[in-house]
Amino acid sequence: GAAALFPWEGLSGSGSAAAAGDLAETVPFAHALPLPKTLTPLTRGATTDVYEMRMREADVEIVKGLTSRVRTFDGTFPGPTIKACQGRAVEVRQYNDLTVNAAVHLHGGEVHSEHDGLPMDVIAPGGNRTYHYPNKQRAASLWYHDHAHHLEAENVYKGLHGLYLISDAEEKKLPLPRGAYDVPLVIRDARVETDGTLRYTRPSDCPHMLVNGKERPYFKVAARKYRLRLYNACANRYIRLRLADGTPFTQIASDGGLLERPVQRDELLMLGGERVEVVVDFSRYSVGQSVVLENTGALPTERPEVLRFDIDRRSTDNSEVPARLSTLPPVPRGTVERDFELRTFPAMTINGVSYDPDRVDVATTVGSSEIWTIRNVEAPLPAPPDFHLYHSFHTHLTYFRVLERNGQPAGVRDSGLKDTVCLGPGETVKIAMTWGPYTGQYLYHCHQLGHSSGGQMGRIDVNPA
Ligand code: C2O
Ligand code: CU
Repeated sequence: GAAALFPWEGLSGSGSAAAAGDLAETVPFAHALPLPKTLTPLTRGATTDVYEMRMREADVEIVKGLTSRVRTFDGTFPGPTIKACQGRAVEVRQYNDLTVNAAVHLHGGEVHSEHDGLPMDVIAPGGNRTYHYPNKQRAASLWYHDHAHHLEAENVYKGLHGLYLISDAEEKKLPLPRGAYDVPLVIRDARVETDGTLRYTRPSDCPHMLVNGKERPYFKVAARKYRLRLYNACANRYIRLRLADGTPFTQIASDGGLLERPVQRDELLMLGGERVEVVVDFSRYSVGQSVVLENTGALPTERPEVLRFDIDRRSTDNSEVPARLSTLPPVPRGTVERDFELRTFPAMTINGVSYDPDRVDVATTVGSSEIWTIRNVEAPLPAPPDFHLYHSFHTHLTYFRVLERNGQPAGVRDSGLKDTVCLGPGETVKIAMTWGPYTGQYLYHCHQLGHSSGGQMGRIDVNPA
């Protein structure tokens, strides 16, 4: 039968099970944590850094001893990291050497519509195009990934994603951990079979957790503070992260960059596309100790371990987490109100309709300040797996603030500038944003990518004021 491409199949009764091979057995902590390589610009102009990447298949080791064929940006899994600075533009020429369409979207990027990687605006196999990123926005941990119509879930799952980090003067002045102590952790699930196949299938059949492309690695750390940039890059599931000994995280940033003040978090529920940046002080441990980062959102049939930190050396540490990190722009006052209802059954829809690139779902204008009420109408299930009843509501072009969750003022998990917001079964959130600064066609969608590929996506046109 056809592969199970949709996470909701099991409950809707539609579709057949995956013709899956046997799941590869794994030994935890068999790999050292790799760090994605930083891409070097081809040229550095007066205003713009120019890069080039080739999307192509590659063979990589995800599970120790097995070779997996993946889809990559530039041969690495995940793709290379682009480091950008506020005020300096970046241009990336992307060559598509794959056999499928691809569209490159900069998630969290404030970019012109024609560079947004819209679902129909694809690079065909053999083609190339240059994306322009102005980088006028504040420091934040972004990522780039495929967005081709109906293909994004499988393309991203197979490896088409990489990091894009923007820094700015304000962030550089802070005494936060930097350099080797500022580490991205890109977390995602996978199903690797005994022959090495990385199979795209429903998340309940994807028990392998990868960090930076390797199955449950270990990371040797010094007994000092680290800044960890956590990404949920899973195609179709949430993760709940905690340190196994209960040590809290100090959260310093969310999707849209620094919070105003650090907050303590015991557990981080992250949906697809979400970023949380934390500082962890490993000086509380002695050399020789280890602490495991675990996913308490793992299924009962899965292992909770994600990554093991091995404290292997002492170190000096001049870094600090200041009590005041940043000042956020004022919360948009919101003079236009809109309502959105996300459904899983009987089909993936927003306000009853699936995505149609030719239909304008929302027409707005530059500068329009809006309050959106978003509802997840599905009822909770008695037992897991319930991944497909969660939604991760994401807007292109602009960040938003979460005002309310289920009628209560937003709490710490929703703080800061966001471009994704988690909706559990039955939940309602209110968010506020101002549209702009650019005009043209953009998207809002669920960032469980099986859902967006299945149509849980809308078109917003931002018109000149
Ligand atoms: Cu990361 Cu339209 O998505
Ligand atoms: Cu969804």
